[in-house]
Amino acid sequence: MPTPLPLILDVDTGIDDSLALLYAAASPDADLIAATCVSGNIDAEQVGINTRAVLELAGRTDVEVAMGRQIPLVRPLETTPETHGPQGLGHAQLPSPSQPLSDRHAVDLILDEARRRPGEITLVTLGPLTNLALAVLREPALPRLLKGYALMGGAFGTSGNTTPTTEWNIHCDPEAAKIVFRAWADAMDEDPSIPRPLALGLDVTEQARIEPAHIVLLARRSGSTPDESMALEGGDDPMAPQRSVASDPIVRYVADALRFYFEFHQRYDGFYGAFIHDPLAVAATLDRSLVETEALFVDVETRGEITTGMTVADRRRLTGRAANLDVARSADVATFLDRLIELLGGLAADRVNVAR
Ligand code: BDR
Ligand code: CA
Repeated sequence: MPTPLPLILDVDTGIDDSLALLYAAASPDADLIAATCVSGNIDAEQVGINTRAVLELAGRTDVEVAMGRQIPLVRPLETTPETHGPQGLGHAQLPSPSQPLSDRHAVDLILDEARRRPGEITLVTLGPLTNLALAVLREPALPRLLKGYALMGGAFGTSGNTTPTTEWNIHCDPEAAKIVFRAWADAMDEDPSIPRPLALGLDVTEQARIEPAHIVLLARRSGSTPDESMALEGGDDPMAPQRSVASDPIVRYVADALRFYFEFHQRYDGFYGAFIHDPLAVAATLDRSLVETEALFVDVETRGEITTGMTVADRRRLTGRAANLDVARSADVATFLDRLIELLGGLAADRVNVAR
């Protein structure tokens, strides 16, 4: 069996970030060592609470969780409770975390770990790039110190999900994304052996749709009952609490969190299901065969009139700059969803056995 990949996830947890955390916590291919928090879907303080609560649900109190920068580099903070719910986890309510936040700041944690274990750690950002921008500003050699870097962010050949041209993670802190993309471009110009970051934009993450039928499969895999998709406490009683009746806490959490995301996507995207961007980014980091990529030079618009936050990809090599990202252009979504159900269902089943 290959050695698990030492992983740091930078998150703005967030419904789909929470599924990415569960995926990494459950995967034998990942050695999840830390999660660093940034404002995005919800403010960073709530991200810190959500991230610890989700990791505790997974039984992963060993994972260090560090607070990062609470506002974007230069712009005012935007959050999106209408997408992820008032606390960021949809309709789910988890117990308050028992573990404290790390004493280290997120940026210190990323830099300390990368320096302590040069060439070993893979960083995946699933939110705005604020923490990583601060890290590369302080340590321009970071691209050389990491084993790899992957991000969920951008819309390279498709429409945005926040403005017509911008994807949420880049939209929230375009200056940070520009700093990060340029830092890797400069570092790779100096040292071509540095691996290109893997970028999963909406082009592929909007192919990763989860639907109620997948929750039935998850319940069956874990042994949770009933397996009826999205069954709620209180039946049709409108006064009863609207919570999943699933017997397994992880399945209950996933059903309640996703029910909110499904309602959002039904309103805005016309289907009762959800794009699960962030877990696809983690899955592709752990197994590159899940995506096909194209090497491109990408820069970020920061001074546009209507396009600020756009990821501008140089497909015809007009800038003369060497590619600085491996941009995913297709994904094996069926294999990814099977794996998500297997890993989360297996984790749920194991947690129940541990509790017995
Ligand atoms: C990205 O924005 C957030 O809402 C999601 O968590 C994901 O990281 C998708 O645009
Ligand atoms: Ca996210």
